[in-house]
Amino acid sequence: MFLGLDFGTSAVKALLVDGEQAVVGSASVPLTVQRPAPGHSEQDPEAWWQAMLDAVDALGRDHPAALAAVEGIGLSGQMHGAVLLDAAGKGLRPAILWNDVRSAAECAELEAAFPALRQVTGNIAMPGFTAPKLLWVRKHEPAVFNQVRTVLLPKAWIRYRLTGEMIEEMSDASGTLWLDVGARDWSDAALAATGLARQAMPRLVEGNAAAGTLDAALAARWHMARRPVLAGGAGDNAAGAVGLSAIRPGDAFVSLGTSGVLFATTDRFRPYPKAAVHAFCHAMPGTWHQMGVTLSAASSLAWWAGVTGLPEADLLAELGTPAAPSPALFLPYLGGERTPHNDGTVRGAFAGLSHDTGRRLMTQAVLEGVAFSLRDCLDALAASGTRVEAADVIGGGSRSRTWIAIIAAALGIPLHRLAAGEHGGAFGAARLARMAVTGEAPEAVCVRPAREETVMPDPVLADAYTAQLARYRDLYRRGGL
Ligand code: XUL
Repeated sequence: MFLGLDFGTSAVKALLVDGEQAVVGSASVPLTVQRPAPGHSEQDPEAWWQAMLDAVDALGRDHPAALAAVEGIGLSGQMHGAVLLDAAGKGLRPAILWNDVRSAAECAELEAAFPALRQVTGNIAMPGFTAPKLLWVRKHEPAVFNQVRTVLLPKAWIRYRLTGEMIEEMSDASGTLWLDVGARDWSDAALAATGLARQAMPRLVEGNAAAGTLDAALAARWHMARRPVLAGGAGDNAAGAVGLSAIRPGDAFVSLGTSGVLFATTDRFRPYPKAAVHAFCHAMPGTWHQMGVTLSAASSLAWWAGVTGLPEADLLAELGTPAAPSPALFLPYLGGERTPHNDGTVRGAFAGLSHDTGRRLMTQAVLEGVAFSLRDCLDALAASGTRVEAADVIGGGSRSRTWIAIIAAALGIPLHRLAAGEHGGAFGAARLARMAVTGEAPEAVCVRPAREETVMPDPVLADAYTAQLARYRDLYRRGGL
């Protein structure tokens, strides 16, 4: 039995998966995000910890025998967040999250201080990444910075609490701007540019390797027969890829979570920083991946639901299945944007509104705006030489077939809707735990999930979206947002 733990931004999920890869039980506990100032996004790591305890305790109540039989635990986590610890391993401030855009000035300073940054780390310095967050703390909270002994990503901090060991794996480490992504090792020069040294960093392992043993008191709390081994695990996107079996070059998926991601597994390290393409290690040795990331995907629909005061399901039901683009346009840049703009200060917009524009057409514009931002990601990957020919769709937004059809038309590629079941980060993390415990090869464990349907791009809608995409891009170019 294997336990996958996914530390998302909006919830912690715990999943029990048996030796046949059947899901035995799952529990999810919601989280909130604190936004103490515009562009800031923080969470208290203790909230992750408490949510995880509540979720696993719930599994223990509902599936005591299965939890007791767990041999391996895999972690999947929201990426990039900075957890700052002092010499005693105590947290110094709330974690600064992946969608926090306060550190734009520090990104420019970092690139100036370390001109080889893009070449070594494979990535542009973007405020979501970890290193500029540290520079921001150094500038604005020097008393905190001076006490920093170790910097951990969210799931590495959880591992530290679960095992007492500071260990990170390659896929998540890739999002720090401190990793030499091609060499799969910390870069001393990149660390020095932020005033840090290798000693401040956890030890590195591959995602499918063993990385610590569960604390004896926790194993006893959950009545486990033996202390399970933890796997390195993966950042939530790479973990999702393992859950979907997107581990071979050419495999691709769209994730419609809080953020939107177009993910493609690559045969080698393929940096393309000039369009803000993310080039990261995958969760298994010798594999890499690229991502285009749009910061507000399902969170754009959640925002619109909040504004209208209606549940998302009601908005989607009211929308039906559109046959033509909305006359309204929406730029989903509610918290800045990564791919392709790398613009932390841009904000969202509705445009093209008229007396006839009601809620239904604005809902459609929100879904289309996110689809066009994913099209920007597709084109950025294409410019780097990565052709995405088809993709699976995962994440909360993938429950809407209408949204999938809109995205298929905007991208001009077939999208696979998956059959009901688990394929996300927690499932991928459980698979990595299995690999760490059994030593099985990724190809042996990563069996493709069943697909419910392949949604082909509607040619009429796709054609109409060509003009709409040009308007969307022009709106950003004209600026003033
Ligand atoms: C990826 C990214 C997000 C988070 C979401 O670079 O920042 O997808 O991983 O948890």
